[in-house]
Amino acid sequence: MTTIVRTVGDLRKRVDKWHGQSQKVALVPTMGYLHNAHIALIEAGKQICSRTIVSIFVNPRQFSPKEDFEKYPRDEQRDVSLLAKHEVDLAFVPSPEEIYPLKFSTVVSVPSLTQTLCAKTRPNHFSGVATVCAKLFNICRPDVAVFGEKDYQQLQMIRHLVKDLNIPTEICGVPTVRETDGLAISSRNVYLSRQERARAAQINVILSATATRLTEGHAPAKEVANALAQLNKKVGYTVEYVELCDAETLAPITELNTPARLLTAIIINKTRLIDNWPVMPRTI
Ligand code: PAF
Repeated sequence: MTTIVRTVGDLRKRVDKWHGQSQKVALVPTMGYLHNAHIALIEAGKQICSRTIVSIFVNPRQFSPKEDFEKYPRDEQRDVSLLAKHEVDLAFVPSPEEIYPLKFSTVVSVPSLTQTLCAKTRPNHFSGVATVCAKLFNICRPDVAVFGEKDYQQLQMIRHLVKDLNIPTEICGVPTVRETDGLAISSRNVYLSRQERARAAQINVILSATATRLTEGHAPAKEVANALAQLNKKVGYTVEYVELCDAETLAPITELNTPARLLTAIIINKTRLIDNWPVMPRTI
């Protein structure tokens, strides 16, 4: 059975009890509307810890006024029964007032990782994520927190944040879970029409082919330009960016000497999709 907890006080009591029994606690932060990619995060947490918490909170601070906060899909009942099926101990489902009480004013931000890529078009998004995650870490005091590599910029920011703030939580990144046609699983995929969905499946095909050519030693500038042309042609609508970056710092790179990441964001009609692919330098 999964216990639903809605307040910080109640959650703390339960986590304190587990820690008192020397049980390790994993936190999987989510915005709900759970799918197979969330389940992969939960399973990863369960491998490392004996207790699992999944937070379900559609965080208003990471949406701009023009984004889909109101429209963001929500289904608490379905989420909680899925969590029960996967033997999650606790669902933390706070109200917005529980997380952001009146007079709440602190903002957490990690500028070194959040001025480029998605931040260019979503300027306040990452500080919204950093603020809520810092709060969730302080509230839940997890030994491990699990995040997907699909949101790669978010994952690197969170890694930096826990290091900078001495938060004693280990961050575990889980490889992107994909549909059978390779499209990265996302709650926003439900917005796509059948035609848009078919186009979206090309994102992964183009990224993975480019990553292979880069590893084979082809020139990064040419390959990235080619990936952009392919994305424009086969996926279309608006390609916000496609960039090759250092896998840790996310600084743009023009030579492949260290582990890198090829990242993209594309708006298909009104749906914004992101994806990324690891790019390793040639070992010989
Ligand atoms: O990746 C998400 O779903 C959200 O950004 C997160 C980490 C739950 C914070 O609201």
